Amino acid sequence: MDSATFERLRTIVYDSSGISLRETKEAMVSARIAKRMRALGIGTHAEYLHYLEHDANGDEITRFLDVISTNVTSFFRESQHFDFLRDILTARLRDSTSKIRLWSAAVSTGEEALSIAMVAHDVLGASPVDCRILATDISTRALINAQQGIYEAAQMENLPEQMRRRFFTPVRDSDAIRYRASDEIMRRIVYRRLNLSRPPFPMRGQLDVVFCRNVMIYFDTAVRERLVAEIYRLLQPGGYLFTGHAESLSSLKTDFACIRPTIYQKH
Ligand SMILES: C[S@@+](CC[C@H](N)C(=O)[O-])C[C@H]1O[C@@H](n2cnc3c(N)ncnc32)[C@H](O)[C@@H]1O
Repeated sequence: MDSATFERLRTIVYDSSGISLRETKEAMVSARIAKRMRALGIGTHAEYLHYLEHDANGDEITRFLDVISTNVTSFFRESQHFDFLRDILTARLRDSTSKIRLWSAAVSTGEEALSIAMVAHDVLGASPVDCRILATDISTRALINAQQGIYEAAQMENLPEQMRRRFFTPVRDSDAIRYRASDEIMRRIVYRRLNLSRPPFPMRGQLDVVFCRNVMIYFDTAVRERLVAEIYRLLQPGGYLFTGHAESLSSLKTDFACIRPTIYQKH
């Protein structure tokens, strides 16, 4: 790909998602858009750029971001957050809370929201607490997978056997076995497309816990700072923000208090 085309694609990625692609990512971008070029019957990167820039209804930008975004995730990733969540929910149950609102802000293919739902189900059981999880991502492809709630055996590896038996049903699919999440956990989750680089967001606020993990690494300081301020606004006082292990807020201007590495609280 020539450098002018790459520069323009980088700008489009930044403007439409807040993702800062480093100059060294040219080979990665080239490999990822090859799939779109094949699907469209387009032979050169410059032609693809032209197509993208004349995308009147925004469909190609959506598909472009689908291939550009990195969707790596797993069940109970960074498990200390789920232990901490268990403690928060247990305390809220003791305080006779009637409503709990949780947000998985870059849910990818759904494992993070389902891990939250499993903990919530475990702690809250049959109690009448109204506990719901909002799960959002910019990638429509990832969200479609998340909404299906069906996972390959390899994706289930981090999930304790007892959780798998309790919350998933094996589905035989030609030769392979896949696993479908049960209705009791799926029904707590609402999936929506949301671009984290474009605050303000349309939620009503008063959130209890926000998982915004392993996505801020792709953003520059300006985008991160705006996002963190918006999460602060949407949390209720005493609410928590969990970030990924490489996403300390220490270099940002923020009102959050760091109570443990990667766990922040609004006062
Ligand atoms: C590496 S995954 C992290 C998934 C999960 N939070 C975890 O920690 O396992 C990053 C996710 O962020 C999403 N993403 C990237 N830019 C975004 C944006 N501007 N708005 C919303 N989601 C975005 C990607 O589509 C991807 O699904």
